[in-house]
Amino acid sequence: MPELCDYEGSDYQTRFWKNADRHYEDAAERVALRRLLPPEGGRIAEFGAGFGRLGDLYAGYREVVLVDYSRTLLEEAMQRWGDDPRFTFVAADIYHLPFAHGALDAATMVRVIHHLSDPPAALAQIRAALAPGGEFILEYANKRNLKAMARYALGKQDWNPYAPDPVEFVKLNFDFHPRYIAQALRGAGFTPGRSLAVSYLRAGALKKRVPVQAMVAVDAALQLTAPLGALSPSVFVRAKTAPGPAPARDGSGRDSLFVSPRSGGALRREGDVLVCDADGTRWHAKGPFFDFKEPA
Ligand SMILES: C[S@@+](CC[C@H](N)C(=O)[O-])C[C@H]1O[C@@H](n2cnc3c(N)ncnc32)[C@H](O)[C@@H]1O
Repeated sequence: MPELCDYEGSDYQTRFWKNADRHYEDAAERVALRRLLPPEGGRIAEFGAGFGRLGDLYAGYREVVLVDYSRTLLEEAMQRWGDDPRFTFVAADIYHLPFAHGALDAATMVRVIHHLSDPPAALAQIRAALAPGGEFILEYANKRNLKAMARYALGKQDWNPYAPDPVEFVKLNFDFHPRYIAQALRGAGFTPGRSLAVSYLRAGALKKRVPVQAMVAVDAALQLTAPLGALSPSVFVRAKTAPGPAPARDGSGRDSLFVSPRSGGALRREGDVLVCDADGTRWHAKGPFFDFKEPA
């Protein structure tokens, strides 16, 4: 079992976004996602969605599934998006997803893979949940970035930014080489496509002097330089699953989306609980909130 980075009870929204100057990063990531994600579609899931920061970008999708291991962050996401009947909130571990094979048409994962010690296992789970021809937009922290390259050249950093293996610079915080991510995506059955180099201007000194709109405009131009070799701290990549016949789905209702994360067995509803007869597990399911962290 890979160790998890647990955000339960975390003040992530306030500390990392509201009380810190990250308007530039937030806006630059939105530009990248808008460029890579098909603007409309059927059912999309965001993995590690946290408090639902990016939920507005899924306006063109008929169903939106926000998945996170932290119940408290998902509750914050529900405060934001709970009035919109298209949204479903799922507490689950990416390594043990509760989705039927091919249940999703598209997926995103932003600022999450850097917390995962076993990316191939997580990507295989996401791949299995996606339908043939499904789209997956992945953001990752790039170890081959300009700052790391400069620090390495000056002897101020011991790890090599050009080596393909992931580096764990703080416990459960990893930077990845673009080649490693491309290989991991292929290994999980994705075909990686277009990349964008994001957040080149991530520097306190610039943020103090340059208006955020100007920084985002420059970032939007720099994002397009990725084919020359992305040296930015963050990279977005669009990947696709192989084409094939659309899977048979039992309607578009929420219950038909799920299987037991223990066994993959079918679930049936008993009031506010989903029951798996195959493995004997029961899972809380109240309104739009489904809890697959541990059985009821
Ligand atoms: C840095 S936050 C990013 C949140 C959101 N994607 C955003 O960009 O605002 C990382 C998120 O990944 C979630 N996470 C980490 N490991 C996870 C796992 N194994 N399964 C599900 N979620 C996980 C955390 O709970 C947290 O909400």
